[in-house]
Amino acid sequence: MFKIKIDPEQCIGCGLCVNDCLTHDIELRDGNVIPLRQNCFKCGHCIAICPQNAVSLEDGDMSEIKDYKEESFTINPEIFLNVVKFRRSVRHYQDKEVEQEKIEKIIEAGRYTETASNRQGVSYIVVQKEIPKLRELAKKQLKTLIDSGYNSAGLNLDEGDFLFRYAPVLILTVSNSKVDAGLAASNMELMAVTQELGAFFIGFFVRIANKDPEIRELLEMKPDDQIITCMAVGYPKVKYYRTVPRKKAQVRWK
Ligand SMILES: Cc1cc2nc3c(=O)[nH]c(=O)nc-3n(C[C@H](O)[C@H](O)[C@H](O)COP(=O)(O)O)c2cc1C
Repeated sequence: MFKIKIDPEQCIGCGLCVNDCLTHDIELRDGNVIPLRQNCFKCGHCIAICPQNAVSLEDGDMSEIKDYKEESFTINPEIFLNVVKFRRSVRHYQDKEVEQEKIEKIIEAGRYTETASNRQGVSYIVVQKEIPKLRELAKKQLKTLIDSGYNSAGLNLDEGDFLFRYAPVLILTVSNSKVDAGLAASNMELMAVTQELGAFFIGFFVRIANKDPEIRELLEMKPDDQIITCMAVGYPKVKYYRTVPRKKAQVRWK
């Protein structure tokens, strides 16, 4: 059973953890903080908010916790917005491997993304050496799709690797929540960009993959697994010089 632990030597009974606990799972009694351990969904707010560092989670990896430091935990908003605006779907890649550490950082960005009720139910599949096999299986499915009359994007199976664009890495999110996985994927893409990598999402592949038994088998997917996003990653072979226009935001200010 998962447990919040309060270090009585450190706790000063300030009640900040009690006040910030969404599930009302901590009480303050006579100046003592008491974890109720009933509804806790392990969000960790009690750990983050404690000025005394008196709170821990028994089955949480406390060694990975980082204390806030302004210089390494803040981004200039103008720079952040420029990164968002300048990000492009990259569809041309260098024939160059992506370092394992960079892939791990991308997944770390997904892992730390918020999930509804703190479910943390997003998992990842990293495909590198099996890309050629996956490409062939996907092509078979795409042919069936095209033969059945679907070709809104002008798919052409003879046009090289129009699906994966010869990207050296594919990172898939698997989840039963489209929102959780979509949010994770968005942070993952930005993590790729900040590491000088290019990326793009491949909706066509997701459409095909979930219902193809051979692809599911190759990716060792469990019966309930659903791929939500497939992101290609690699070193770009193209360079962009500027941002692009977008539709004006439709906003209702009430
Ligand atoms: C959910 C999703 C699915 C996408 N699927 C594909 C795809 O299958 N193939 C592709 O070339 N681009 C795909 N894209 C990239 C979009 O075409 C691209 O984001 C859009 O044209 C805007 O260009 P930009 O990303 O460079 O700003 C996808 C993007 C999203 C968000």
